[in-house]
Order: sequence, then C-alpha cells, then structure tokens
Amino acid sequence: MGSAVVLGIESSCDETGAGLVRDGRLLGHAVASSMDEHARFGGVVPEIASRAHLHALRPVVRQALEQAGLRLADIGAVAVTTGPGLSGALQVGLAGAKGIAYALGVPLYGVHHLAGHVAADTLEHGPLPDPCMVLIVSGGHTSLLLVRDLARAPITHLGDTLDDAAGECFDKVARVFGLPYPGGPAIDRAARTGDPRAVSFPRPLPGSYDFSFSGLKTAAARWAEGHAERELPVADGAASLQEAVADVLTRKAVAACVEHGVGTLVVVGGVAANSRMRSLAEERCRAAGIELRVPPLRLCTDNGAMIAAVGDLLVRAGAAPAPLDVSIDPSAPLEYAALHPVAMGKAVAA
Ligand code: KG4
Ligand code: ZN
Repeated sequence: MGSAVVLGIESSCDETGAGLVRDGRLLGHAVASSMDEHARFGGVVPEIASRAHLHALRPVVRQALEQAGLRLADIGAVAVTTGPGLSGALQVGLAGAKGIAYALGVPLYGVHHLAGHVAADTLEHGPLPDPCMVLIVSGGHTSLLLVRDLARAPITHLGDTLDDAAGECFDKVARVFGLPYPGGPAIDRAARTGDPRAVSFPRPLPGSYDFSFSGLKTAAARWAEGHAERELPVADGAASLQEAVADVLTRKAVAACVEHGVGTLVVVGGVAANSRMRSLAEERCRAAGIELRVPPLRLCTDNGAMIAAVGDLLVRAGAAPAPLDVSIDPSAPLEYAALHPVAMGKAVAA
C-alpha cells in the first residue's frame, strides 16, 4: 500500500507555507512572506501577519498542488503547525488546515514548529540517523537536541538559550548597525567585505550546553555607540559578530557530539542559512570526523514542506491524528514532534 500525500501548513510567524510530501519525498511547496510589510516597523507586527496569512493561505496551497501536479482530492492527510508562534497567525493556519481536513475527510496532525525545522533536512538528505545531534538556530530559539526517532521518541534538550536566541541577536544588532530587517541576512551580506577579527566580541560560553547571546548583543551595541561621531565600519562589525555567534554555536554542537558519541550533526532553522555558520560547522565537523547535515537554504527558513515532512513521518509511524477541536499552543515546549497525544498504532507499510 502506498503512503498518503501529506499537506503541510505553516503560519507561525511571517511566512505562509504549504508543502506536499509523500514517503519522505517533497512533491511541491510554496511560501508567501509578509516580511516586506513588517520591514518599516523593524519587526513582525502580529496583526499584519495574521491578515497576510488569511490572504496567502489558499494561494500557497494551490501553488504547491500545481507544482506537484496534484489536486486537493489527492491529499490523504493534513499537518499544521499548532505552536509555538504568534497566536493569531497560528489560528489562521489551524483554521485553514481544519477546513481542508474536514472537507476532504482526512486525518489532521498538529505539529511542533521546531520539529518541522528538524524534519526539513530529511527532504534533502533522507531519514535522520538514530541518534543524531540537532542544533536549532532560529529567530526565537537556540537549542541543542539529542534526537532519536522523531515521530515516536521524546526529544532530549541538552542545552537551550538562557536569554536571546541567535537569530534574535542578529536581528537586534542589525537594527543598531542601521541594517534592514530581517537582520540575519543583512548581517550576512554586510559581513562579506568585513574582517572577522576586526572586533573581539565576547564568546559567551555559559556552563553546560546552554547558550546566552544577550551579552554579545549588548557588546555589539556598545561598540556601535562608541562610533557615534565617526562612520560605523558596519562590514567589520557584522563579520566579527557573525564570527562570534558561529564560533560559540559550532564549538558547543561539536563538543556535544563528541561527548555523546553521536556521529551526525544536523544544523537547522533560519540561522543555518548563515554563510559563516555553514563554513565553520563544516570545518569543525570535518576535523572531528562528524557528518554534517544542513538543509538547503530554501528549507532552512520557515516553510510548509517541513511541516508536511513531520506529518509524513507521523502518518508512516501510525500515529493517532489530532481531534478536530485541537487548539494552538503559542508557547509549546519541544518534547515531541506532534503537539497532541499520538498513541502509535500499527505502522503503515510503505
Ligand atoms: O527559522 P526562521 O525562519 O524563523 C523562526 O522560526 O524564527 O528563522 C528566522 C531567523 C531570523 O532571526 C533571521 O534573521 C535569521 O533566521 N536568518 C539569518 C540568516 N537568514 C535568516 N541569520 C543569519 N544569517 C542568515 N543568512
Ligand atoms: Zn522557524
């Protein structure tokens, strides 16, 4: 028996994504972003994001279907991000997903956004080895995770951020540097012509595998303030900041792999798109004999394909679907990939 085509819907922040996955294979996906509408406010405005999701949801689902050469009736299950994220934004995606699942009479799965980031890599590089080390670096989260069977097993947090997330640090410092929103890509671009050794920013290394980026953020802001009278060497500041963030993240991730005897590191989330993060992770993993997996850029930032990928894993694991009155959880902790109880049934044969 063939597995179902899973439609994934993502709407937790400012990207509306729809993706179609079957048997671990990406069939089609589309993303609409309201990023430009938030740019002049310097950050995501929740009301604007919710309204944008409402406008974009049907078009992105249609585009994903067109790309896959499929019709609505071909969808066998629907997976949707139910948390964490902006509550209004999540509500729009969940309502849309429920409507489609109900109308088609197919099962619905509520998925943790960060599990989606993890699963994104499987669409490019195949199933994750068990166990693997996952470094999630996004706008709102920095976590080092020991992942076993993503669909079935609980996820072990080895470390989390104590304050700002890595992406948040990029976004906030970019603002102080006078760079446009979103800050991460702008810092990355500006850093190309800068010297990463120009400024010796602190390397925050709190004990254990936790992370802390607020001190680095403050140091970068102080450095910028110190140039009030002179022109700010933005490229050098950006390159040095990027170096400090990439250094701390990759150092801890590789150390965790070595300590736990894990042979594969997966780096996911928006900050995995950072060029220095990618090159330093490659360098350090190679030196330590660790296999590095990073999803392609288009699957690093928020999208619907990654949510479909989790849904596909849950379907194939025989997980119980969510009840139709499932609700959002804007601050859901990452414990399991599914955000509703999923007593495992008989796995569906591929
Ligand atoms: O995973 P994501 O798309 O959304 C969240 O779930 O948060 O991550 C967004 C974050 C933002 O902070 C953005 O500035 C950062 O990822 N980002 C980058 C780059 N591209 C996106 N940070 C550094 N370098 C980049 N190239
Ligand atoms: Zn995300």
